[in-house]
Amino acid sequence: MFSLPNKVTIIEVGPRDGLQNEKNEVPTEVKLAFIEKLQLAGIEEMELTSFVSPKWVPQMKDANEIVTQVKKLGRQLVLTPNHKGVEIAKQSGAQNFAVFVGVSNSFNKKNINKTTTESMDELKPIVGKLLQEGHFVRACISTAFYCPYEGKVDSSDTLALCKEFVSWGVNELSVADTIGMANPRESYELFDSLKKEFPATLITAHFHDTRKMGIANILASLQAGIDRFDTSAGGLGGCPFAPGATGNVATEDVVNMLHQMGIGTNINLDSLLKAVEVVEPYVSRQIDTGMYKLFKSK
Ligand code: HMG
Ligand code: MG
Repeated sequence: MFSLPNKVTIIEVGPRDGLQNEKNEVPTEVKLAFIEKLQLAGIEEMELTSFVSPKWVPQMKDANEIVTQVKKLGRQLVLTPNHKGVEIAKQSGAQNFAVFVGVSNSFNKKNINKTTTESMDELKPIVGKLLQEGHFVRACISTAFYCPYEGKVDSSDTLALCKEFVSWGVNELSVADTIGMANPRESYELFDSLKKEFPATLITAHFHDTRKMGIANILASLQAGIDRFDTSAGGLGGCPFAPGATGNVATEDVVNMLHQMGIGTNINLDSLLKAVEVVEPYVSRQIDTGMYKLFKSK
């Protein structure tokens, strides 16, 4: 049997990736209750929200209220695409920042209105300053496998973008299958290369579950030595600028698989399902992940 970690870190992205693409407006107090329940379930790292243009992503327009009102527990991250986002986030008291760039130019243009190179040129001094000030910086790498506009992405382009971020000293790379098209072989190969190339950087895998290969991709990444996964409670999520993509792989299904395999997460599955129950009445999508269906049928 291949070697497996004893413990895996789950980075919950439900309040951000999970809700950014939601049709219904989820009230701020519901988001705060959802976040609190997730924290109570044992989530120690979480993407809370994003400081992006409310015209582009109206669902994240309460970012300031979320960051100021949430209980400060563990590593709480906020997404920031540019200088303005970082400045407003700092005023809210944010300490841990996630910048995001697509390997594919077409996706980056649709998502951030800049080419990949323009984004990197803008972010370099911003990230340098954040690190100098002692903030934690995570770099989210979108379209690491496939792009909704350009198709298959060359893994050497993904590695090159990661290398640039690592040369700036970022603390973490979160490498994403944005539209949920990667298969387990591709996941193993890319994450194996990333682990070998960047042994001193935290490397996290972020899978969307469009073709229901998210769990299989997680197993393949575990085999490649990855022990950090972005997941979304209830399997909610999707990027408004990545047509056809569905939610992230569901936290409850990943936690269940890991626990069944004897791998610890520090997360209480029953409490996690109660967190999903808080948000379920407010989202337009039916939540039908495996563990949640079992929980509701009891
Ligand atoms: P733009 O229109 O090119 O920006 O948008 P601009 O600089 O010309 O400014 C336009 C307006 O936006 C101005 O306001 C700015 O002040 C304002 P106005 O004068 O019109 O009133 N503005 C901002 N407001 C709040 N926060 C800011 C900000 N910046 C400018 N940070 C921009 C450029 C980046 C703002 C826009 O494209 C945007 O907001 N994009 C966000 C896209 C997004 O949130 N995507 C989803 C997250 S990424 C993701 O989901 C992928 C991930 O999960 C991994 C994966 O699965 O791949 C992480
Ligand atoms: Mg995503």
